[in-house]
Amino acid sequence: MAASWLKDAVFYEIYPQSFRDTNGDGIGDFNGIIEKLPYIKSLGCNAVWMNPCYDSPFRDAGYDIRDHKKVAQRYGTEEDLVRLFEEAHKLGIRILLDLVPGHTSETHPWFLESAREEENQFSDRYIWTANAFCGGDGMPFIGGEHPRDAAYIINFFKCQPALNYGYRDIHDPSWQQPIDAPGPLANREAMKDIMRYWLDRGCDGFRVDMADSLVKNDHGTKSATMEVWKDIAGAIHAEYPEAALVSEWNNPEQALGCGFDMDFMLDWGGNGYNRLMRFYQLDKKGNILSDNSYFKLESDADITGFLRDYPYDAWKDLGQRCMITGNHDTKRASFNLNDRERRLAYAMILTMPGAPYIYYGDEIGMRYRWLPTKEGGYHRTGSRTPMQWDNSKNLGFSGAEEEKLYLPVDPAADAPTVAAQEADPDSMLNFVRGLIALRRSREDLSNCSPFAVYSAEAGSRLFAYKRGRLLVAVNPGREALTLELDGAYAPVYTLGHSRIRGNTLVLDSQSFTILSPAE
Ligand code: NOJ
Repeated sequence: MAASWLKDAVFYEIYPQSFRDTNGDGIGDFNGIIEKLPYIKSLGCNAVWMNPCYDSPFRDAGYDIRDHKKVAQRYGTEEDLVRLFEEAHKLGIRILLDLVPGHTSETHPWFLESAREEENQFSDRYIWTANAFCGGDGMPFIGGEHPRDAAYIINFFKCQPALNYGYRDIHDPSWQQPIDAPGPLANREAMKDIMRYWLDRGCDGFRVDMADSLVKNDHGTKSATMEVWKDIAGAIHAEYPEAALVSEWNNPEQALGCGFDMDFMLDWGGNGYNRLMRFYQLDKKGNILSDNSYFKLESDADITGFLRDYPYDAWKDLGQRCMITGNHDTKRASFNLNDRERRLAYAMILTMPGAPYIYYGDEIGMRYRWLPTKEGGYHRTGSRTPMQWDNSKNLGFSGAEEEKLYLPVDPAADAPTVAAQEADPDSMLNFVRGLIALRRSREDLSNCSPFAVYSAEAGSRLFAYKRGRLLVAVNPGREALTLELDGAYAPVYTLGHSRIRGNTLVLDSQSFTILSPAE
């Protein structure tokens, strides 16, 4: 049984370095998030996922953890974090931390111990090859850095050695271990221990980084990685029934099938989500060469590219598949979609099954900016700029001098801010609020209420779906379209122009509507 609060959870993702700086050092902090909790509540969000906030050399923005049980000084103290949990709970907001089980920083004491020549209790906690010259059996590896006569497998950047959860298909038993070897089992226990540590301090669960890749040579079915998660998630759910786990996996049958409550639909080139909002090609300078995203006005894409990747019946009884406006790894939606196109996209995201996740700043239409890389961000850096609160210094993010800011704030004269949009009933901010309020007010739109495709023809720009008894329809294109209705309906929500003529719904260009059966 999943945590009871997940049935109507709407999440807000916070990148802590860029949200709100209260001590003037130019970097966001826990106290800044506490200060802005009422704002998060005002959006209608009742849950937060915060990116890693642990001690780290920040070669990958904190996804390179040096000490899992110590918060990074730049965000405050453990007491501040616990206060964040408490203050959030007072407002009915849950907080998920980021769990990074697959790797640590190369400066983590576990790794430094395992890199020693003499065998010790950490020797098998990472994946070391047979000797310094034998290669990594197809996995990326680093050799020549440590006294131990072996190379080690990395998970992502060079600074992120892979923790050893074992191999499913063992090609070389001299160094590849089964998943129930002592090293891999110790890593599972270490992760449970870390999760308990933060759950005991008041966090409400975890977003789990690269959850699908723990066991190596586990292609296809991921049966061994699933076995590992059944163990870890099973233990945590048994001890903390109200804790929630969301996976970075992008395969709901697998992820939900091994104990995750939610799985993200991620932006992977050409997949269903990518085809909705980010199906573009760039030139070397980052200019958009072509864009056939479904929500682009001039695109000719139909919704079948999305639906091929959305086999709802396959996972509907297992848990939630979650859609995102974006995240700290994607370009912001504002990079290629204009205000109207984004509203249509968000209208769909906020009316689909599964808890939706809003990436901070998307609700005011913050821009993507091409910026020099920061802490391993590269092209992701431009989506990680400071939140834009108002027109005061640094757009209300920080009182620090400009050159001390974690990243520069948007210098544009018309940079969107929360304060300006609060005052405008037609703003993106109030649009997002309105949709979340509608989602909350209608049981049919809640996270686990049924979904069924109503109309999704190849070659057509129209997409219509049922949520419970409600009928939702969107036309992102230029031409007006019609839809035959299966009964008498009345509109409960409209964006753009649409009308009912007898048994026909007419959707003008770039419109969206939600219809309810007429009483
Ligand atoms: C996925 C995270 O979302 C990303 O930001 C990070 O760089 C990698 N995993 C490595 O942890």
